[in-house]
Amino acid sequence: MTISIKIDQSKNYSSCINEICKIWDIRIDSTSDFEFIIENDYLKIIDLKEYHSGVYVDFLSKQSVYRQSFGGGKKQTILKAIGVTKSRTPLNILDATPGLGKDSFVFFSHGCNVHMLERNEIVCALLENGLNKLKNSENYTNKENSLTLEKGTILDNIGHLDMFDVVYLDPMYPKRNKSASVKKEMAMFHKIVGDDKDSDFLLEKAKSLAKKRVVVKRPKGAPFLNSLKPDFEYLSKNTRYDVYI
Ligand SMILES: C[S@@+](CC[C@H](N)C(=O)[O-])C[C@H]1O[C@@H](n2cnc3c(N)ncnc32)[C@H](O)[C@@H]1O
Repeated sequence: MTISIKIDQSKNYSSCINEICKIWDIRIDSTSDFEFIIENDYLKIIDLKEYHSGVYVDFLSKQSVYRQSFGGGKKQTILKAIGVTKSRTPLNILDATPGLGKDSFVFFSHGCNVHMLERNEIVCALLENGLNKLKNSENYTNKENSLTLEKGTILDNIGHLDMFDVVYLDPMYPKRNKSASVKKEMAMFHKIVGDDKDSDFLLEKAKSLAKKRVVVKRPKGAPFLNSLKPDFEYLSKNTRYDVYI
């Protein structure tokens, strides 16, 4: 699914947004309900029909920094699931459904090299802006690991990709119970990317690219991806991580 974007041509940043749309092949439409704006150097997408602060990627947000510092360190379930704790060398991870990059950033912050392969062009534009902000920040101290972005999907020709230690999947799942504010962000994000109706096909492709394991994030109680029972599961409060060795 793709939505088009409105640009307010009277804004001083409009040429910059035109350029971003050209790079990521984003359709521009003056009647669209979605507009790209730039605020404090962040590229944001806003829904003109609903008041909302917009969706954008901020790896240095309070929420993100809190998750790195107080999220339980290497003991947090998501890191146990990908096997960070057991690995002596940095894990190379392919995040094949990176979205706003929140999980990717947790992996990167805990010593992994992460490649994000996102198919939605609007999400790619937001991710690239967040990555640039991160790399230009004085708080960006992790020079040992890499966090990279590519537009695409493992469902297409991926002959150019090497094998990865871990392939991580978190496709959209329709029912997610979250707090009111997160719900709003999720609802808008959902409008941008739609349902990932082909997510069942991801698992086999992911397995062919993973040297050690494939990890699938699912809401607790959700069916397994492609109805395939994992080798083991890790549970946190609302989430289940299905691990396929
Ligand atoms: C639920 S979000 C992922 C959230 C992410 N884990 C995070 O921490 O922010 C799912 C994302 O995966 C992307 N996606 C779904 N299927 C994909 C595919 N086959 N290839 C690439 N990206 C895909 C969607 O466009 C969406 O951006």
